[in-house]
Amino acid sequence: MKALVCSAFGPLDELQVQEVAPPVPGEGQVRIQVHACGINFPDILMVQGKYQVRPPLPFFPGGEVAGTISALGAGVAGLAVGQRVMATLFWGGLAEEAIAPVRAIVPIPAQMDLLTAAVFQGGHATSYHALKQRAALRAGEVLLVLGAAGGVGMAAMQIGRALGARVIGVVGSTAKAQALREEGFDELIDLSRDELREAVRSLTDGTGVDVVFDPVGGELFAQACRSARRNGRILIVGFASGQIGQYATNLALLKENALIGVNYQGFFTHEREAVERNFSELMALFARGAVRPRIDRVFSLDRAAEALGAVAGRAVIGKVVVQVGG
Ligand SMILES: NC(=O)c1ccc[n+]([C@@H]2O[C@H](COP(=O)([O-])OP(=O)(O)OC[C@H]3O[C@@H](n4cnc5c(N)ncnc54)[C@H](OP(=O)(O)O)[C@@H]3O)[C@@H](O)[C@H]2O)c1
Repeated sequence: MKALVCSAFGPLDELQVQEVAPPVPGEGQVRIQVHACGINFPDILMVQGKYQVRPPLPFFPGGEVAGTISALGAGVAGLAVGQRVMATLFWGGLAEEAIAPVRAIVPIPAQMDLLTAAVFQGGHATSYHALKQRAALRAGEVLLVLGAAGGVGMAAMQIGRALGARVIGVVGSTAKAQALREEGFDELIDLSRDELREAVRSLTDGTGVDVVFDPVGGELFAQACRSARRNGRILIVGFASGQIGQYATNLALLKENALIGVNYQGFFTHEREAVERNFSELMALFARGAVRPRIDRVFSLDRAAEALGAVAGRAVIGKVVVQVGG
């Protein structure tokens, strides 16, 4: 089979598509004939050797796939060859066949196509968990989303609105602001023109926001924390800027703010009932068109390194996906 091979941690342009032996599913695993693999920020960190998990070399990047089951390992029940499934993996998705443990498999609902399924969990499942379980976002509250044109950010914008919040998105360029306006979001802060705290102040009559959703970190995190109002909750989702944010703890005391971590993998592993409940609620939102991943570009497997490069270069609005099979 063909796969995108990472032989040494380093730059994305050293990745190569090669012929490799197809993997064999072990006990409690299934093999998926990959139709498409969604690209997420951690895929890039993993290739560069900067992620908290370092795969044994060589490995194939790609942490989110959709396709059909092509083989079942020993002891697998309740799944069938030919079934359409999506799965989140740590790596192995940018390949014609991928292995997933049974607990990572989610059947794809009839109304969802395979490209959408390949980008659905990384953004939407994470953001839904963040806003529902971690922030307990309520209708009528004000939600500030940093990195709003990114994979998790755009999902948070859609979910926040579906949950009845007033949503303000923060983006780094006028082109991204324009794209989000076309998606129906009017309240946007464009950091190429606006100063964050001043813009939040003027959009909220000086009161600030109830919830900050931060997948960016660094200096932007520090600024956004100052825009939270009394009883505000600040969600630490990721560090796309490459910098961990710093926080002045006196703010938490003064405004009774809470800093809240979000770790979807941990939630997925340890809270299965809630994961499944979230998923069916999200699917109901998807069915009525309230949430829908925006696929910016589709790449072939031969150009998968370019797909990773597009995400690394902040050139994506929504998600990119690599179409692997027919
Ligand atoms: N905690 C969890 O469970 C969880 C789950 C999924 C993802 N994440 C994390 O969430 C973060 C975002 O993931 P994503 O898939 O949404 O990524 P993405 O699609 O690349 O979006 C990241 C956004 O961050 C902004 N950004 C600001 N500074 C940046 C920089 N120096 N480099 C790159 N982007 C920068 C960009 O927007 P502008 O250009 O508009 O500034 C970009 O749209 C990642 O750190 C990822 O690891 C966490």
